[in-house]
Amino acid sequence: MPGDSAVNFNVLHRTCKLVVLLCFLHISVTLIFYVRSLDIRFAFVQNQQSNTPANVRSTNLTTKEEAKDDKIQVKVEGSPKNLEKCPETSPLLVGPLRVEFSSPVSLEQTRKENPNVEVGGRFRPTDCEALQKVALIIPFRNRDEHLKYWLYYLHPILQRQQLDYGVYVINQDGDEIFNRAKLLNVGYTEALKEYDYDCFIFSDVDLIPMDDRNTYKCFSQPRHLSVSMDKFGFRLPYNQYFGGVSSMSKQQYLKINGFPNNYWGWGGEDDDIYNRVASKGMSISRPDGTVGKCRMIRHDRDKQNEPNPQRFDRIAHTRETMHKDGINSLSYKVVKIEKEPLYTKITVDVGKP
Ligand code: BGC
Repeated sequence: MPGDSAVNFNVLHRTCKLVVLLCFLHISVTLIFYVRSLDIRFAFVQNQQSNTPANVRSTNLTTKEEAKDDKIQVKVEGSPKNLEKCPETSPLLVGPLRVEFSSPVSLEQTRKENPNVEVGGRFRPTDCEALQKVALIIPFRNRDEHLKYWLYYLHPILQRQQLDYGVYVINQDGDEIFNRAKLLNVGYTEALKEYDYDCFIFSDVDLIPMDDRNTYKCFSQPRHLSVSMDKFGFRLPYNQYFGGVSSMSKQQYLKINGFPNNYWGWGGEDDDIYNRVASKGMSISRPDGTVGKCRMIRHDRDKQNEPNPQRFDRIAHTRETMHKDGINSLSYKVVKIEKEPLYTKITVDVGKP
């Protein structure tokens, strides 16, 4: 009937209108959600970019892609450039530490316990900008067991001290007589080729601090850090003693023309360095005897490191020799550079006497 078909047409017409309306509503809702998700995605990308430098710390390891990212990050809020400076005293310090060498430690264990240390032994805090860029230089030969303890104890301490740091083990190649101070000069030079360090810690491999408030950083005067060693009954053996662990800023180090290169065998080179510091009108800064406590790993005297009989004569002439003998006369050959997970090992030929 014509009346019925008119009614049917009306119903159909309304249904179609309703479907079109529903479609429109659906598209609108979808659009709104899409635009909102774009916002979220954008914020997420920004966040990711500002976190990246924390994960990509070693400048020498940065790929071209990452370098491109770095340029973007400079403009992004929260990038390292915008991080607040770390406080003068780290809030992470715990004070006195138990240090003992009765049970062995493995590199694997130390690596697992320090997941934030990057290849080559590099670290920098992620939540604040470190106050100093510190290269730790360890003169070395055949002391792998001692190095394991050093890495095991020092990595956690240095991280708690909120330092931007790198560990450099300078390994004397061959069997010639050992030359500690020359290896330290090599460490200074090689570390600076990798990163813009402003502070250098010169540490024997067998010395472990017993208190993390003994911050491994630089001060307004050259610093002696191992002031209270168990080996010397937790006191200074003599007032001018500057051996074991010391720190110097780049400026302080250059002021004294670095360290002597001609002390072969054990002893005297640290006294020469003391003389250099004193002759340039600088004094030695030290922590107090409690904070400066440290333990030495007991060992027999190394082969090819017998006491140097010439040391007394050399120490007596530091003021005359220091301008000719030092960083300005350093020569050596790099044999090998190995990037280990917890340290950088640089094997060098330093020649012979
Ligand atoms: C040596 C130093 C040594 C000190 C402590 C001195 O006689 O010249 O090189 O660090 O004794 O053992």
